Parts: sequence; C-alpha cells; structure tokens
Amino acid sequence: MSGSALYETFARAPLAFDRGEGTWLVTDKGERYLDFAGGIAVNSLGHSHPHLVAALTEQAAKLWHVSNLYEIPEQRRLGERLADATFADKVFFTNSGAEALECAIKTARRYHFVKGHPERFRIITFEGAFHGRTLATIAAGGQYKYLEGFGPKVEGFDQVAFDDIDAAEKAITPETAAILIEPVQGEGGIRPVPTQSLKRLRQLCDKHGLLLIFDEVQCGIGRTGKLFAHEWTGVTPDLMAIAKGIGGGFPMGACLATDEAATGMTAGVHGTTFGGNPLAMAVGNAVLDVVLADGFLEDVQRKALLLKQGLAAVADEFPDVVEGIRGTGLMLGLKCAMPNTKVNMALHDQHLLAVPAGDNVIRLLPPLTVTDEEIGEALKRIRGGAKGLTDAIAAEAAK
Ligand SMILES: Cc1ncc(COP(=O)(O)O)c(C=O)c1O
Repeated sequence: MSGSALYETFARAPLAFDRGEGTWLVTDKGERYLDFAGGIAVNSLGHSHPHLVAALTEQAAKLWHVSNLYEIPEQRRLGERLADATFADKVFFTNSGAEALECAIKTARRYHFVKGHPERFRIITFEGAFHGRTLATIAAGGQYKYLEGFGPKVEGFDQVAFDDIDAAEKAITPETAAILIEPVQGEGGIRPVPTQSLKRLRQLCDKHGLLLIFDEVQCGIGRTGKLFAHEWTGVTPDLMAIAKGIGGGFPMGACLATDEAATGMTAGVHGTTFGGNPLAMAVGNAVLDVVLADGFLEDVQRKALLLKQGLAAVADEFPDVVEGIRGTGLMLGLKCAMPNTKVNMALHDQHLLAVPAGDNVIRLLPPLTVTDEEIGEALKRIRGGAKGLTDAIAAEAAK
C-alpha cells in the first residue's frame, strides 16, 4: 500500500504546484521552477495566459455543456478556422489525443468500407511511434511495454522501422487502408521524419489508394514554428489528429479530414458526449487567436533558433553529458551521453523542468510564449546541470 487512493500508473516527482505564471510554476512552498516540460507539450501559451483565462471564465459564466445533440456555435467556428488554416474540410472534436487518433483510424477504415472495400482496414505505422493508450492506439504504437498484459493486440496494424520507406512500401497489401505517422516523433525521442520520406509516403498513398494520416498531437499548433509541422515539408495528409497545444491545458483534441477522406463518417457512425463542448471550444478559439496573430509563429522560429544554438554550445562544452541536439522549433531534444533520467534529475535540481523521451533523449518543450530572457535562464540552468554531472564524472575518475 502506498497510502494513495490513486492508481500507481504514474511515477510522479514528489512535487505539487500551486500556480503557474507564464513559463514558471510555483510549488505549494513558494519554490519557482522554469517550465520547459509544458505539461508534455500542452501548455502552448504557458500558464494563466490572460486571453485564455478570460475566454474560459467568460464561457464558464455562460454555458458549460449541452452535448452534440444541439448546435454549438463556438465549435462550428473553431472547426471552420482549423479547416481554413489547413488541408482539411471537416473536423471532429475529441477530448484527447488518443481519441483523435481513434477517430482518424475509424475514418480511414470507414472510407474504404463505403468505397466497397471492407477488407482494407490495416494501417502501417513506424517503430518508436506513440499514438496514445487506448487499445487501438497501443496497437498502432506497437510498443511491447504498453501492450503487455492487455490481451490480444487489436488487429490491423503493421509496423516497419523508423523512416524505412522501402519497408513501408513492401508492407502494403490489398488489405492496407492507410499509413499513420508523426512528422516529428515526440515520445520516440524527438525524431523528425525527413521531408523526402514524407514526400515518398504521400506518393505511395496516392499510388495505392491509401489515406495518409499525420499524428500532430505533439508537434502541431505552432510547436515547430509553423501551425503544423508538415507545413515545412509541403506534404499534406488526408487525415490528421491533433490535441495537446490546441487546448493550451484544457483537455481537447480533434481529427481533421479532407471531404473525400471523411466520406464514410455519416450520421450516427461515430460520436462523443464531451468532445467539442463549449468550454473547450472557447479555449481552442482563444489559442488560435494568439497563435495565428501576425508575427507570432515567426517569433517562435526566431526563439527556437536562439535555444537550439545555445543548446549546441552546451553539447560542445559537455560531451560526456550531451551527445547532440535534435528536433525543430520549440520541440528540441538533448540526446544524452549518460542515462537521460540522470540528466533530467540534474536539471530538476536546477529547478528546470524537462521531459525524458525514448532513445535516451530529454525533451525541451517550453511554451511558445517563452521569452528570450527565459531561454537564457534555461541555458544557464542546463549548463549548471551539465557541469555538475561532468564534475562528478571527473571526481569519480580521480578516485
Ligand atoms: C504524438 C502523440 N499522439 C497521441 C498522443 C496521445 O494523446 P493523449 O495522451 O491526449 O491521449 C500523444 C501523447 O503524448 C502523442 O504525443
């Protein structure tokens, strides 16, 4: 017995935060932490952003929930804004990233079903992927550690090596419905997929009549300096799952689709009680007000460069701690030369929050509103952590 009534599914740090201010989190004891974890890429505009607080409290005073039995004007508006800003024509709102992926998977399967090909239900995915924790999305992610003990893996997912487009082509069969990929792998260790590879996947999908699904749950909503990461490549998907940053901390997600891809999603075939509720929609619209404002994303790109250059200097200075820097925009990874948990602990001791990821990487996911001064402060703390670890290695060697 741990003395807690909660499931023991999370290895939590013994820290409780009382409030947040922009890029800072403050504990119940008044200690301040610089937040480069961002609730795992969720707090796109930092903590307590005045425009989001106003949008949420105004909506909270008016109307919380009505269900999708009725028109929700803010939902219609956010759907139209997302469609206007992207490849998409249609949007389905969800409460989470995993549900957005579930919707994308179902939409792809239904597409082939209504085209007279119910046998086409399989989806090709990539090693290192993370798509969520529902039964279908753990099957899509294909990671044994998330599948073990949960019964038979949901049928219909074929996984190939990361960025192995030849293998993806070989995996296509008459049963294949779609290819699902994160343009930048997040949990997998901040691994951007080369532009050329996404272009080849688009060509493969067009050639074989497959749908291309992007998972931009982590890399979307300005994180890479464009509204969506795939915009850097010129490749557009047929379907896309988003979540995290669009709610800025309010739980929400969405599945975006072209008219053609959404052909099978007719009345009654899919649903949700909470998805698209007025509170979430008010916040989603408020996030877009800020992220789509003139110059905002350009400034994210400028700040990202500042952070990346600073990190590259740290990697040069402390090669025993940081092997290299990877990623794009404000989605950067420190590839560690020692266990990433140790590096994370050293950063934590410097009161800098970051997130470990696969492939021995530490993720830095500051809010898009991070200031130049805060980037400077983070670099100072990362350097401090790396120096402590380097000194410890030297002291050990001298023994
Ligand atoms: C790329 C990606 N897809 C899907 C998910 C699942 O999102 P959620 O935890 O909101 O269900 C995550 C969560 O980390 C993610 O990073």
